[in-house]
Amino acid sequence: MLNKKTVNDIELKGKTVLVRTDYNVPLDKKGRIVGDFRMKSCLPNLRYLLKQNCKIVICSHMGRPKDSADKHLSLKPVAKHLEGLLGQEIAFADDCIGEARDKQIKAMKPGEILLLENLRYYPEETANDAVFAKKLANNCDILVQNGFGVLHRKHASTDAITRILPAVAGLLVEKEIKTIKDIVNNPKRPLMAIVGGAKISDKMHVLELFIDIADVVAIGGAMSNTFLLAQGVKIGDSLAEPNDIELARKILDKARAKAKKGSFVFYIPQDGVVAKKAASNTKTRIVDWGTHAIAEIEDYPKHPNPVRSLVAEDEMILDIGPFSGAFIAGSMQLAGSVFWNGALGVTEIEALQNATGPFSHGTELVFEAILGQFGHRPYSLIGGGDTVGFVESKGLADQFDHVSTGGGASLELLVGKKLPGIEALQDK
Ligand code: ADP
Ligand code: 3PG
Ligand code: MG
Repeated sequence: MLNKKTVNDIELKGKTVLVRTDYNVPLDKKGRIVGDFRMKSCLPNLRYLLKQNCKIVICSHMGRPKDSADKHLSLKPVAKHLEGLLGQEIAFADDCIGEARDKQIKAMKPGEILLLENLRYYPEETANDAVFAKKLANNCDILVQNGFGVLHRKHASTDAITRILPAVAGLLVEKEIKTIKDIVNNPKRPLMAIVGGAKISDKMHVLELFIDIADVVAIGGAMSNTFLLAQGVKIGDSLAEPNDIELARKILDKARAKAKKGSFVFYIPQDGVVAKKAASNTKTRIVDWGTHAIAEIEDYPKHPNPVRSLVAEDEMILDIGPFSGAFIAGSMQLAGSVFWNGALGVTEIEALQNATGPFSHGTELVFEAILGQFGHRPYSLIGGGDTVGFVESKGLADQFDHVSTGGGASLELLVGKKLPGIEALQDK
């Protein structure tokens, strides 16, 4: 349950409402929106505010721009797309703060919507800067926090702004929190967590906590490369986080201790698809580096079969291999529920001819297993911008039991962490 005020708890009629959303949607190389799940999920909240005759000012981030010169991370295409979804005109402000947009807001009539340019074009947003938050709040009466996917961040639009405007939860935030808390309070066991993706440092701490609550933890994507490094596997030019190697060792120790006590599996891929470049027209090969599930290893730093290092210096691990995929899909046949966040490979790379991209096989196998293709179908909760974007591209997003708009945010909620963006809202 959410013990914070929501849009239902305050008078909104005719107010100018600043709505923080997470419109950080997956884009293709040409900057086109390839998945609009995060946008569609916010529509009920917008419709509710329209019914209340509000003037609606929407703000969001997109990606992680270095500065405002990162034009490919503009929210302008999102405004256009939102027009189609909502069937009404959406005005756009080229700058999320400043006199020009202040004027635009002042001129708004009830029922009109203005979308502001990418908040992260200002480093002050992620620095949780109070002066920036004040400028953002100009000419607005209330903050409706509906950006569930970004609530694990303590940023100006999730934290500082709540000390300037009265701040309440939007309908999507309310729904996500209720659903995820219900699931986590009573998951069907065995509970399997699959964590992939590329936000390594963010998700490391979450993994540590998953060891406490899950029965099987399987890692994939760039996440697993740091664990391979920690085990002495050479990973060539793969994406990893060398600063997290110590933490990875600590997590492996914790996993090993739990595995020794009883039935618990902590799985790191034992093989992968490698290539010299992440591109459609590249040569790939499967490398088996000979590691096994932690559950089977007695003394992993001194494993009797020395780890083979077969990934060349100039190669990258870009997907899990067939043995790893089979292990994960196989374990799933015993799972009562599965929480999945993060692609297991670089799924954005399109195929030259067939339907499956060169580094998408692992992710495809895993979601097919989750959806019961191999017989058993566990309860499924999936989340993450890119993860959901991928299943959307297959037309399968509505097949899962709960699809969360949050990646890191839903993971943190699942392992029982408090989200700063929720804590900052007004109490009920
Ligand atoms: P989500 O958006 O679903 O929460 P992340 O943002 O953490 O997940 O990660 C998704 C990204 O992870 C994708 O862009 C994908 O290309 C990348 N990724 C997955 N596996 C690898 C890998 N082996 N090497 C590099 N990047 C990877
Ligand atoms: C996400 O995609 O998980 C959210 O939009 C948050 O983005 P961030 O990890 O760049 O803060
Ligand atoms: Mg992502």
